[in-house]
Amino acid sequence: MSIIKELNNDIKKIVNQAGYQVENLVLQPSGRRDLGQFQLNDAMALAKTYKTSPREIAANIVQELEKDGRFTNLNIAGPGFINITLTDQYLGSLLTKIYEDINTNIDKRAKKKIVLDYGGANVAKALHVGHLRSANIGEALKRLARLLGYEVIGDAHLGDYGRPLGLVVLEIKKRYPELVYFDENYTGDFSEVVLPVTNADLEEIYPYASNKSKEDEAYLEEARDITFKIQNHERGYYDLWKKVVEISKQDIKQVYDMLNVHFELWLGESDACDYLEELTNIFKEKNVLTESEGALIVDVKEDDDKAPMPPLLFRRSNKTISYETTDLATILQRKQEINPDEIWYCVDARQELHFEQVFRAARKAELVSDNVNLEFIGFGTMNGSDGKPFKTRDGGVMSLKGLIDLVEEETTKRINPETVEESKREEVAKTVAIAALKYADLLPFRGTDYIFDPEKFADLEGKTGPYLLYSTIRMKSLLEKGKELKIGEITKFKTETEKEIALTILRLPNVLDKALDSRSLNDVTEYLYKLTSLYNTFYAENKILTAEDKDLQKSWLTLTKIVYDINMTLLDVLAIEVPEKM
Ligand code: ARG
Repeated sequence: MSIIKELNNDIKKIVNQAGYQVENLVLQPSGRRDLGQFQLNDAMALAKTYKTSPREIAANIVQELEKDGRFTNLNIAGPGFINITLTDQYLGSLLTKIYEDINTNIDKRAKKKIVLDYGGANVAKALHVGHLRSANIGEALKRLARLLGYEVIGDAHLGDYGRPLGLVVLEIKKRYPELVYFDENYTGDFSEVVLPVTNADLEEIYPYASNKSKEDEAYLEEARDITFKIQNHERGYYDLWKKVVEISKQDIKQVYDMLNVHFELWLGESDACDYLEELTNIFKEKNVLTESEGALIVDVKEDDDKAPMPPLLFRRSNKTISYETTDLATILQRKQEINPDEIWYCVDARQELHFEQVFRAARKAELVSDNVNLEFIGFGTMNGSDGKPFKTRDGGVMSLKGLIDLVEEETTKRINPETVEESKREEVAKTVAIAALKYADLLPFRGTDYIFDPEKFADLEGKTGPYLLYSTIRMKSLLEKGKELKIGEITKFKTETEKEIALTILRLPNVLDKALDSRSLNDVTEYLYKLTSLYNTFYAENKILTAEDKDLQKSWLTLTKIVYDINMTLLDVLAIEVPEKM
């Protein structure tokens, strides 16, 4: 249990000793630091229960608190707010504990197994801006949940099964009809075949084929036919498709690596298809499928729906499998192979309806038991300065690599040539660019849209990734320089700023809890900025390395180390890497 929670419990006991029973006592950080560091607002509620005046209750509680010795400047404000300040000695001792073990400043939760579906890249299509947010938010949520004690299994859930694949295979067939994949008489091994198509070709082929299918009905029909063949594992087509997936996956992996995003599972929609037959049987048994114009659908309306709820398309009339059905099959697969307590989906908010349909259908067919939480974690879009989803200058979809390049252009200008040697500059600029992009992406509440502004993201001042990196590197260098000095204890504070830092450190468990509960990293990014800028104020106010008072110096360096450790821990939660220098 975190020490701040222990303190909370201690105060609860003290209130009991004063003669009052409280259920959920919460020590609030005070908004009025001149009156106290913390505030206890329970006297008002207790007054109703005990039918006495809140001020009298507050006075009795204060009397008990005074006996304890850990508190100072106890006073009562207004109708009965109790203001509490920790003695310097006690505050210092709490921080010393955190210095010794950062886990005393984190509240662990009861273990739970969670599958986190994020990333969602589509095979044979370049990763685009839309995939950035799923990767960033998903990876950070995974790390946050793990820090708080959950077991989380991240699955990339590649989009590898729909019509796009049929289109790509069709277009390859048009361009290279002589390939043995299309030769019915070929009986050899396909794994030996070299495909004359690179990932870059695929990225050109898909948009081409997609556009063509919109104008050419026969072409579209052919693509549907091929999609059906692939989904039915027809020799040749199925093998070519597998090859395409393999080529594309390599490239996708590279981009995710660059973003420091790592999946435990690299399954795709197609992997769930082994479960399709079983899925269909379950849906038939539970009697939830209806025929409609040759297709199979599931009615997922509920009585109290306020908005229209279209039926879920289980199987199209042309027998190809829908996106909805691959998601249902994936639920069945996860249930059988992993048996998680929860499945979280970190996906663009515009897919909310899709997931609502899928979850309802899954519940109707009892694919998972009622206590398994299926949760949609939607996020807003990254927009251009026009307020619309970010596009390239010619109006096309911006690739993720292109986006990173734009930020890198800005961070390159800000790398200090005196600290970073020439040969390392490009690499550092890239690391800082990724940090800039990630931090900016995780700064607003996940559901909120935000504007892509590389210049602002790369700024060395303000709420930015580079500001945090720069400050954290400076803390590290200070600790290096002071490494001969003995640290490990906080016995003194000189200014209010230091105490403010200490109190901010004690807020960490609360911040982490809030972030995990809201499935959003904005509290963490804001907190990092708050803690770091307070620290920088302190850093500017004092000459730490030449301080004469050695106890004070030791306290200062210990404080620095704690802030540094917290920054490193939280940057790691955000999956942001810290370069040596910048
Ligand atoms: N591939 C999908 C897309 O790009 C995202 C996949 C999200 N996850 C899921 N289980 N459907 O839109």
